[in-house]
Amino acid sequence: MKKFLAVLSTLVMVGSLASCGGTSSSSDNGTGANTNSNTESKTDAKPADDSSSKTDDSSSSSGGKTVGIAMPTKSLERWNRDGEYLKAQFEEAGYKVELKYSDNDTNQQNNDIQGMIADKVDLLLIAAIDGNTLSQTLADAKDAGISVIAYDRLIMNTDAVSYYVSFDNYTVGKLQGEYVIDALDLKNSDGPFNIEFTAGDPADNNAGYFFNGAYDALKEYIDAGKLKIPSGKTKFEQVATDSWSTDKALENMQNTLASYYTSTQLDVALCSNDSTALGVAQAISSDYSGKNTPIVTGQDGDIANLKNIVDGKQSMTVYKNVNDEAAATLEVSKAILSGQTPDAGLVSSLSAEATYDTESYNNGVKVVPSYLLVPYVITKDKLDVLVDTGLYKWDSDNKYLESTAKTT
Ligand code: GAL
Repeated sequence: MKKFLAVLSTLVMVGSLASCGGTSSSSDNGTGANTNSNTESKTDAKPADDSSSKTDDSSSSSGGKTVGIAMPTKSLERWNRDGEYLKAQFEEAGYKVELKYSDNDTNQQNNDIQGMIADKVDLLLIAAIDGNTLSQTLADAKDAGISVIAYDRLIMNTDAVSYYVSFDNYTVGKLQGEYVIDALDLKNSDGPFNIEFTAGDPADNNAGYFFNGAYDALKEYIDAGKLKIPSGKTKFEQVATDSWSTDKALENMQNTLASYYTSTQLDVALCSNDSTALGVAQAISSDYSGKNTPIVTGQDGDIANLKNIVDGKQSMTVYKNVNDEAAATLEVSKAILSGQTPDAGLVSSLSAEATYDTESYNNGVKVVPSYLLVPYVITKDKLDVLVDTGLYKWDSDNKYLESTAKTT
């Protein structure tokens, strides 16, 4: 895979998330944070021809075009960040935005995207709930001449996806595995240590990459007997968590602890992301009787998990900077909407390190050209790295991190 690494640059300090234009909210079965019915978000960004528009050249390049953004749910923190940040960035660039959150309901997401097609959006950015359920809808988008960017999660079994913008998700898992190798000094110690895996939603194409990246990193130590899996659950399907649900991860870990850890030490709970790590950490707090504190891994930098990292209930999270993912998506979108064909050259215009891949991401119908950003490990001593993104700030006691996002 030909790698084009953009010039490394420091993270762009970003102002706090702005809540521009209209607001978007959805009734969601997750946190209950929003009880309003799912409403679309219509921007009131200045139309391109408005002389008062903030950035003339960007608004002229946007041509007042509309971008439809389809996020999976509001019940998982990171999608709220992504949705609001993407909306703010595209509006800042002079585009109109229609933003929808589909309550982790695949039928609703198809309907929401069909609605955007009916509204004649000029481009679709989709974080699929289930990458295998959008083929007909995307065929309709293609017929309507609307390009599609698969945002963060690859969309499968369709030729209608033009680009995939995400992180190197295999590396996300690999970083989690490598953290465990270092924390247990597996290269030098004999062990054996006991580990259990908690993977993500089987409907999410990313989940397999996360699990495989971690498992492959640890496989030599599992094969050598330095790492043991008392539950015997070594396959993705055995440790997957529908909808990345915190409650399901909690229940699964409680069952594992009750079955295998009444008098056995658990050394590692390798969780693919923060929403599942939150449930696993709760299970360990309530149901684990061992004297040690197991290593718990995660991903996303969710606020509750960052608190657990400060409190020692989670060891690390793999952070994927939404600024970078949104910025890359904006650049690809601008190119598409101005009739260009994004390619490797676009990487050099990005402020963050990225690779351009035209070989690895076969969605079952085509190899989707992909822009992959680089994830990084955050531990208790590195929390200021998150503050530097502009998306987090210290609380008044300087003890825990809070989000800088303005609630809409
Ligand atoms: C994945 C995403 C991760 C993880 C999960 C739950 O597709 O890449 O960041 O959080 O969904 O939203």
